[in-house]
Amino acid sequence: MKLLEDRVIIVTGVGAGLGRAYSLDLSRHGALLVLNDIDEEGLAETDRQIRARGGRAVARVGSVCDWDHATSLVDTAVASSGRLDGIVNNAGIHYVVPSVHDTPERMRQVMETNVLGTQYTGTAAIRHMVASGRGGVVLNVSSGAASGMASIASYSASKGAVASLTWSWALELREDGVRVNAIDPAAYTVQVEHTMAVRPSPVTWSPDRIAPLATYLVSDLSASVTGQVVRRWGDDLHLMSHHGPMAPWLSDPGWTVEKLDRAFRTELSDHLQSYGRDMRKYVPFPGTAGPPGAEE
Ligand SMILES: NC(=O)c1ccc[n+]([C@@H]2O[C@H](COP(=O)([O-])OP(=O)(O)OC[C@H]3O[C@@H](n4cnc5c(N)ncnc54)[C@H](O)[C@@H]3O)[C@@H](O)[C@H]2O)c1
Repeated sequence: MKLLEDRVIIVTGVGAGLGRAYSLDLSRHGALLVLNDIDEEGLAETDRQIRARGGRAVARVGSVCDWDHATSLVDTAVASSGRLDGIVNNAGIHYVVPSVHDTPERMRQVMETNVLGTQYTGTAAIRHMVASGRGGVVLNVSSGAASGMASIASYSASKGAVASLTWSWALELREDGVRVNAIDPAAYTVQVEHTMAVRPSPVTWSPDRIAPLATYLVSDLSASVTGQVVRRWGDDLHLMSHHGPMAPWLSDPGWTVEKLDRAFRTELSDHLQSYGRDMRKYVPFPGTAGPPGAEE
């Protein structure tokens, strides 16, 4: 019995890169797939590769930003097999530009694809999972860039939204048996080709190396894992921390500017946080000590 035998899983953005790699691995483990992409040729090629290896798939061209298309993916899964077990919200776009040169059109496009697209296809899927009473699995795709990255602020914000969506859905749908996690992949694909100064090793950074993590998080092997953002970077695997309130928790009935200034210079000074994808050490404001070990 294969790991995903009889499971029906929607995967979006499968026409290239990571989406194709996830699809091939999910199929290899026995899943019946509903495949999506706006790129008809890329979609057909992934479909062909799956069938050539004896897998089963139904391909649907369309945009994840289109609500009717999102719901039709769920309808396709149910029509094909009477069930939907999981969705991998992989479709996404990316661009690099210093924020001062960003444009409203590009900002809107990246938010529509990465955030609304994930919300549309994800919501269509969870509606079915909850109504069916069988639950299911949602795997979103965030990015290490969500921690902050220069010159891709809009993309980073969109992936931060995907992480927040993951935590909110995980909380809300726990009782309905729907698990929700996100993956922070890193792979050499068309999407990142133009943003890398050095061409990385095609072996170390192959999308195929990320795919087992998607398969694991969709399978019952990860039945106790929900609300997690999991990062694969080169040879590394790690969880991303969840941001929430942290100690020291100061309390005062009237926080004036002066009291706030004192708090930042005293109790909070040692706790100012690192930020950015590379977890750069916090650089203190002039005249303040900053946390121990703070450095440029
Ligand atoms: N490659 C990386 O290192 C990396 C890192 C972090 C996150 N990601 C995320 O992983 C996902 C896949 O990235 P990739 O590197 O394979 O990119 P890619 O550009 O190679 O593939 C993305 C696919 O999504 C499709 N797509 C774009 N807009 C769509 C839409 N509106 N509807 C349906 N399909 C659409 C594209 O046609 C393409 O086939 C994206 O969400 C990306 O942001 C990638």
